[in-house]
Parts: sequence; structure tokens; C-alpha cells
Amino acid sequence: MPICDLDKRRPHAKKVIGLDVVVWWDRNGETWKVFDDRCPHRLAPLSEGRIDQWGRLQCVYHGWCFNGSGNCMFIPQANPDGPPVHTAKKGVAVYPSTVQNNIVWFWPNLDPRYKDILVEKKPPYIPEIDDPSYTNLMGNRDIPYGYEILIENLMDPAHVPYAHHGILEILPSKNR
Ligand code: FES
Repeated sequence: MPICDLDKRRPHAKKVIGLDVVVWWDRNGETWKVFDDRCPHRLAPLSEGRIDQWGRLQCVYHGWCFNGSGNCMFIPQANPDGPPVHTAKKGVAVYPSTVQNNIVWFWPNLDPRYKDILVEKKPPYIPEIDDPSYTNLMGNRDIPYGYEILIENLMDPAHVPYAHHGILEILPSKNR
């Protein structure tokens, strides 16, 4: 996800290789976070919630609030004299994530053995994207089909002058 397409003021729903995730800006940790898009309470989509005034991700259904580590820090209905809510085991599943080349990357596996995977295994780095002497343009589209369909399309240049008529410049043809 290019960060230029992400708004820090709200959570974003994304579906990536069949995984429903919520991407949100953790202002306390000053980093983008990628969580499983299911509240551990009653499974409401966290992407439909909000960032609360303390920078936590708040569920839209009953208002539970989660910090950047996925820990529940506030339950509005909890007895104030009860045990601290963060001692409860109800946390959100957090995917390992990082920012590189102004893109949010995440490791699509919640197995705890991959918790620190991005420390040792970085996403592919493209130096030209960070080089100010190059011009780059990023965009993001959510397309509801698998990558294998997209690859088939990209390997089919014959469709370009017609499916993208008037959008892409076509080189002059000798056979006109
Ligand atoms: S479903 Fe999220 S707080 Fe209840």
C-alpha cells in the first residue's frame, strides 16, 4: 500500500491475497500498523472503527480500544473497579509490517515465529523510488481478482490500443 494513498486519520480496509486486514496509523508508535480486520470481542471489522483521541484503534461496535501492539487498552463497559483491561487475553492479531520505498509492506502470516521476520528479511528495495533525481508516480487500485489474472493481462500487449484507447500514447505503426 503506497502511503500516499493512506489517510492517517482513519483505518483502512484492505483485502490482500484473501486476507482481510486493517491498516492504520499508530501515532504513538509513529508507524503504520497492519492488523487482522476482526475485533477479538465480537469480530466486527476494525476498519469500520475510528482512531480515538489517544491514537488508539477503536472498534465501531462496542468501543474497545487497541494500541499498536494489538493490546486492548480500554473497554467502555468494564467495571472501573475491576482488573485492568490490558491484562485480559483479548488482543488483535498483528501482522509484521514495515515501510520501505514509501510503501507499507506486511508479512501475511500470523505465526509467532515470524514476529520479527522483517528485521532480517526486508521487502525488495528499489533505490530509484527514493532517489529524488528520479520522478515516480504511485497509485493504488483494489481490483477484485487474483494476481494470476492480472499477470495474464500484463502479458497481453495486443489489448492496449483498444482497451486503453485514448489513454496511452501509441507509437506510429508502419502498417497504417
Ligand atoms: S465487537 Fe469490537 S468491541 Fe465489541
